[in-house]
Amino acid sequence: MNTLIAASQRPCLAVAPMMDWTDRHCRYFHRLLAPSAWLYTEMVTTGALLHGDVQRHLAYAEREHPLALQLGGSVPEDLARCCRLAEEWGYDEVNLNVGCPSDRVQRGAFGACLMHEPELVRDCLGAMRAASAVPVSIKSRIGVDELDSWAQLENFYRIVAESGVQRVIVHARKAWLKGLSPKQNREIPDLNYQRVYRLKREFPLFEVIVNGGITAAESISGHLQHVDGVMIGRAAYQMPWMLTECEQLMADSAHSAEHDQPDRDQILEQMIAYAHAQQAQGVPIRHIGRHLLGLYHGQPGGKLWRRQMSECLQDHSAAPESWRRQTIQSDCPEYA
Ligand SMILES: Cc1cc2nc3c(=O)[nH]c(=O)nc-3n(C[C@H](O)[C@H](O)[C@H](O)COP(=O)(O)O)c2cc1C
Repeated sequence: MNTLIAASQRPCLAVAPMMDWTDRHCRYFHRLLAPSAWLYTEMVTTGALLHGDVQRHLAYAEREHPLALQLGGSVPEDLARCCRLAEEWGYDEVNLNVGCPSDRVQRGAFGACLMHEPELVRDCLGAMRAASAVPVSIKSRIGVDELDSWAQLENFYRIVAESGVQRVIVHARKAWLKGLSPKQNREIPDLNYQRVYRLKREFPLFEVIVNGGITAAESISGHLQHVDGVMIGRAAYQMPWMLTECEQLMADSAHSAEHDQPDRDQILEQMIAYAHAQQAQGVPIRHIGRHLLGLYHGQPGGKLWRRQMSECLQDHSAAPESWRRQTIQSDCPEYA
């Protein structure tokens, strides 16, 4: 622990890694909403990266920084090789997934089941840190199966700390490795934020980021009394405008300058321009538009816009301009 560098003072806002959701187009959109947030890729397995299409997995837009690559794996040498690739591609952080409970991931002996093997996690993180200059972080649960006491979490992180890792992201619920689907494992086990707060108290040199169940920007300040940052998953995807509010709150708590906040229509225009640029490179625009469906969530006309947007995405000949709202929608609350 003494080898760790003191955690930074600025609170961290992060958007969670989410398979099939936080691809590069989604991250580009989130970046427009939250200029300083840390963005995380979907989990990429070491196998996919070492034997697959590196460009497909690692390409991103410069604008996405600060950007973390999340890896799934448990072989230190493979993870180390992936960290070198991440460094070559200019990633700002590499994160090890110790929280995913899916059967596929368990068959690969990584993700949440690694909470049973703290020494292996330490060795993985140590090999990753030694492989490149890119900072390494971990994302875990507070426990798995019967291994869910404070003493067990404390033991896990005491061993993990020997790797020298500094940023620790904790999803504040345990995972059941058998019997629950990944979706159920995000909903059924109870949230226990106190556990995460205690981790920060007992390991003050960790930069602790709490994750799980954060659905309103207003709740962030409460978490920041106890930890160094918050990571938001589903709410950021489903109600993306929340990110602008979170960004503002984080700026206030760090006493930093306010960002000029664009409105939703301006963000949509920027995404239309982005869609054109991507289309010119052969990307189907529905791969981009699908991430925008929540943009007008809670706004007058928001539901109608979402429905029309969904229809536009089915129509392969529709241009990105068809994503624009008609003025009449926003003027007619009965359509909401
Ligand atoms: C569709 C989906 C995919 C996810 N994929 C990943 C993943 O690849 N890696 C990971 O660590 N967590 C993954 N998660 C979990 C989230 O990162 C996060 O820990 C979880 O959703 C709890 O945060 P929330 O309540 O803010 O959504 C995923 C969640 C969702 C909804």
